[in-house]
Amino acid sequence: MKETLIEVRDLTKTFHSDEGTTRAIDRISFDLYKGETLGVAGESGCGKTTLGRCLVSLESHDSGTITSRAGGSQIIFQDPYNSVDPYWTIERIVAEGLKDRKDAITLLEKVGLSRNEKDSYPHELSGGQLQRVGIARALSTNPDFIVCDEPVSALDVSYQSKIISLLEDLQEEEGLTYLFISHDLAVVRHIADRIMIMYGGQIMEIGNTDEIINSPLHPYTKFLLSAVPAPFEKKKEFQVLDDDTVSQGCPFAPRCPFRTEKCFRERCERQDRANGHLVYCHNI
Ligand SMILES: Nc1ncnc2c1ncn2[C@@H]1O[C@H](COP(=O)(O)OP(=O)(O)OP(=O)(O)O)[C@@H](O)[C@H]1O
Ligand SMILES: [Mg+2]
Repeated sequence: MKETLIEVRDLTKTFHSDEGTTRAIDRISFDLYKGETLGVAGESGCGKTTLGRCLVSLESHDSGTITSRAGGSQIIFQDPYNSVDPYWTIERIVAEGLKDRKDAITLLEKVGLSRNEKDSYPHELSGGQLQRVGIARALSTNPDFIVCDEPVSALDVSYQSKIISLLEDLQEEEGLTYLFISHDLAVVRHIADRIMIMYGGQIMEIGNTDEIINSPLHPYTKFLLSAVPAPFEKKKEFQVLDDDTVSQGCPFAPRCPFRTEKCFRERCERQDRANGHLVYCHNI
C-alpha cells in the first residue's frame, strides 16, 4: 500500500501584474507518495515552478490545501550559478544549514566532490560540480522531500546523466521523495516513477511513467511525445484572466484538434483508468 507524503487539494495560485491576472496554478489535486519520484512535465509557463515553490512554502497559495507529512523539504534550482552567493566558499555554502561545519566535508563527499573543492568559489567549479553543491546544500537540512526544479536543464549533456544518477542514489540511501520538474519528457521518463502532465496551470494527465509514455490518453500528452509541434501557440490568451474570473473549460482547448464547444465551457472531470492513471479530457 502506497503511503501518501503530501496531499494537494484544489490548489490555486494567482499572480497579479500590470498585464492582468495569471492563474499559474488552477485548482489542482494530487497525492505524492512516500519514496517516489513524481515527474512534472509541460511547456514553459504551465506552472511547474510555481507548484514546486508552493510545495516547499517558498510561495503562498490563494486557496486549496497542502497537507504534508514530510519532516523537511528543500528545493534544487535550475541554474546553480544564480542560486549560490558568488563570494562564499563551497564549504560555507554547504555549511549554512548545518550545526557542525565538519559535516560539510561529509556532505561534499556524498555528492561526489572532494575536500579539495571546499575552499573554492562558485566560479571555479563547472556547472555539474556546482549543481552537486546545490544538492549538498539541499541535503544539509536533512529533508525527506525535495523539489528538483529542472536540475539538469542548464548543464552540459555530459553532466546531466551523472547528476541524475546521483539524485537516484541519494534517493535510495536517504529514502527521499522527489517532485522532479522538467519541460523535457526525455529527462523525466528516465527518473520518474509517475509523470504528471501540466498545461495552463492544470493537470492534463497523471499516471505511471510506462503508461504515460507508452499509452498516453490526453491529446496534449500525445503532442509532447510526438516530434510534431502543437498546431499553434496561444499561450497567454487563455491564461490571463480578469480579476475574480473563475477559469472555465480546458486550458488546452484553443490548441486541441479534438475540441468541442463543451471544452471551452466546462472544466473536465477527472477520469480514472486502471493503475491510478488519471486524465482530464471531455473527448476520451
Ligand atoms: N512572480 C510572478 N509574478 C507574476 N507572474 C508570475 C510569477 N511567477 C510566475 N508567474 C507566471 O505564472 C505562470 C507560471 O509560471 P511558472 O514559472 O510556474 O511556469 P513553469 O512551468 O515553471 O515555466 P518554465 O518551464 O519556463 O520554467 C506563467 O504565466 C508566469 O509568467
Ligand atoms: Mg520553471
